[in-house]
Amino acid sequence: MSIQIVNMTHTYMPGTPFESTALKEINLQMDQSEFIGMIGHTGSGKSTLVQHINGLLRPTEGKLVVYGIDLSQKNADLKKVRSTVGLVFQYPEHQLFEETVEADIAFGPKNMGVTGEELKERVHEAMRLVGLREDTATRSPFEMSGGQRRRVAIAGVVAMRPQFLILDEPTAGLDPQGREDILRLVQRLHSEGTGVLMVTHNMNDIARIADRVIVIDYGRIRFDGTPREVFSHVDELEEMGLDVPDASKLRRMLKDVMPDFPDDLFDAEGVAAYLLQRMRGDRHDE
Ligand SMILES: Nc1ncnc2c1ncn2[C@@H]1O[C@H](COP(=O)(O)OP(=O)(O)O)[C@@H](O)[C@H]1O
Ligand SMILES: [Mg+2]
Repeated sequence: MSIQIVNMTHTYMPGTPFESTALKEINLQMDQSEFIGMIGHTGSGKSTLVQHINGLLRPTEGKLVVYGIDLSQKNADLKKVRSTVGLVFQYPEHQLFEETVEADIAFGPKNMGVTGEELKERVHEAMRLVGLREDTATRSPFEMSGGQRRRVAIAGVVAMRPQFLILDEPTAGLDPQGREDILRLVQRLHSEGTGVLMVTHNMNDIARIADRVIVIDYGRIRFDGTPREVFSHVDELEEMGLDVPDASKLRRMLKDVMPDFPDDLFDAEGVAAYLLQRMRGDRHDE
């Protein structure tokens, strides 16, 4: 029930003048019990990394084992990998192509051999989970708004019932309500036992909901730990061109006036609780 990556390197177009190494000696172990957030500047290698995990890209060097299937081997069972690990691409709505919402959502599970009543049930369950109304089933995805199309695309992956779900910037470009809905869906799938790896630029979201954060920088892993650990490196993250959670910025400001302010408070509630406790404590001292 896990994903193991050992010394994995990926080079695009090796042996040509365009050769570029996008991942360098990646070592990672990810478990189905986890909710992992992945961050990194544009071009750092996040999409390249996640595409390896469901077999779309092959490691140039190193080893990758997904739920017992060794993807470094040429004859690896890719079909099995893709039904175990679901990948929601960046801007997945650009890849819709069927005439109706239900046909689009059914595409993945149908390819896995699911038919008849079970197929119908999966499509409708997935629609419910992503918050699509029943009466949209027969509509054309192309007549829907961007946010609704994103839901259709995510439902198509959810309908395959993956054990591990990877989402590459699933909330990019959505309005706050759309973003909140997608996050709630992912949290729900995780609480029901699905492993999650979510690539995102939204630091406040990741600080709030992930239990592990991985930071990629120029194809290498720079930090890998709890949000508390990772977001204590405010200055280094900013040097990498990354944003940090608002509470981390607040903490840094407070540290200027309270040099002993703890380094590891990264969420608004933690900062507020500490301040309150401290104000009460100071009053007792008078
Ligand atoms: N199909 C490709 N062919 C050649 N180079 C690529 C390809 N896809 C990505 N790259 C390069 O690999 C690096 C990592 O890209 P990517 O994995 O898309 O990063 P991210 O998702 O973090 O923005 C970048 O330098 C990018 O230009
Ligand atoms: Mg990307």
